[in-house]
Amino acid sequence: GRICPDMLINGPIDANPYSIRLNSDGRTDAVAAISAQPPESFSASLLRSLLLRSLLQSDTFDESCESGEMENENETNTEPVEAEVNPWEVSGKIDYDKLIDKFGCQRLDQSLIDRVHRLTSRPPHVFLRRGVFFAHRDLNEILDAYERGDKFYLYTGRGPSSEALHLGHLVPFMFTKYLQDAFKVPLVIQLTDDEKCMWKNLSVEESQRLARENAKDIIACGFDITRTFIFSDFDYVGGAFYKNMVKVSKCVTYNKVVGIFGFTGEDHIGKVSFPPVQAVPSFPSSFPHLFSGKENLRCLIPCAIDQDPYFRMTRDVAPRIGYHKPALIESSFFPALQGDTGKMSASDPNSAIYVTDTPKEIKDKINKYAFTGGQDTKEKQRLYGANLEVDIPVKYLSFFLDDDDELEYIKQEYGSGRMLTFDVKKRLIDLLTELVERHKRARATVTEEMVDAFMAARPLPSMFS
Ligand code: TRP
Repeated sequence: GRICPDMLINGPIDANPYSIRLNSDGRTDAVAAISAQPPESFSASLLRSLLLRSLLQSDTFDESCESGEMENENETNTEPVEAEVNPWEVSGKIDYDKLIDKFGCQRLDQSLIDRVHRLTSRPPHVFLRRGVFFAHRDLNEILDAYERGDKFYLYTGRGPSSEALHLGHLVPFMFTKYLQDAFKVPLVIQLTDDEKCMWKNLSVEESQRLARENAKDIIACGFDITRTFIFSDFDYVGGAFYKNMVKVSKCVTYNKVVGIFGFTGEDHIGKVSFPPVQAVPSFPSSFPHLFSGKENLRCLIPCAIDQDPYFRMTRDVAPRIGYHKPALIESSFFPALQGDTGKMSASDPNSAIYVTDTPKEIKDKINKYAFTGGQDTKEKQRLYGANLEVDIPVKYLSFFLDDDDELEYIKQEYGSGRMLTFDVKKRLIDLLTELVERHKRARATVTEEMVDAFMAARPLPSMFS
């Protein structure tokens, strides 16, 4: 049966809020110039991949999930693994259609994508065109309001649990940057150092250090400093933000939070008390220095679908405390290099491309570890072609290769056997090397002063212009 949106997650799927996101536009000129290079293609493909660091294991594109088949003969792909999607865990082969039903969100269809195109007068981001962002809640309402001339603000975040980010972590940030530029709206980015301190058993100091380091990668994505506020929970929680947390907490019973997040009697109470912290950035009154006098502003949250439980809770509570429900736009996960086997480990550096990898590391990882749907000899490849459904180089290209015609050409040639795995991998290596090198250059220009500037609680006078 269907599970109603408010109850949740314990089923076959588990995705968890403890993953990531990155993106921003420091708009120091150096950063802006570097990151502006091919903004579209850069963000598009990244999106999928980045999403879950932990995720690495599970994913896949929604299209390929639909059939639910394991088409590849490689041994690594033959055993279906039950999927888990919750904020703390994403694993197994995920059926994104089932997830939509189970979570009770809506599919992001072509008519909505066309609508975004019309309203922003710019081509939809690759992550939209290719279905990386595939689900939503109330996106229509946000666009209705926008069409009437009402603006909104964006809210996203990252749990700083590690120093090194991989491509999947960049996906939500690349996409958020696109949304910020396309709609010209303000953005708040929450760094949940408190969350990671509690879940990953990091010290307070180490979580705060990681938050700042991650902020640099986020800023390197090119966010506009005149429209972006980045905050760490340890530094910012208090005042109006805390008042909203208490209002939310009073509306959520212990039974409810256990139903949504699956906490048990063994979990410490920090975990039980955390969800309101992630909930309240959805309400403009939590940011008086930004939105005072604009308490009616709507909020749109770009995130990976594993974060949905937090926002189901938030949406349930919002009307009861007199606030708008936040709208959501949700992505699938970026696949591990090894494919959808459910066997990879997030701690395995060979299962992902990191933004700190050297060109040689990128080349070696792709050549050695990328799961391929191509045949194992040239002769067989010419005869039978490649199985594109399971091919990781093709999946990665569809995240990051902005050129629709080139992608189509590669798929045709490779699928029919005229192109060899080697050449597809070569194209991917070039593309990712360029993307990673660009990110490194952008990050190198981010100074401590810039981090302080993005994280200062300050008004943003021209955030809507
Ligand atoms: N819990 C998220 C993580 O672990 C971080 C986060 C906080 C977030 N607020 C968010 C992610 C809003 C997306 C949207 O990565």
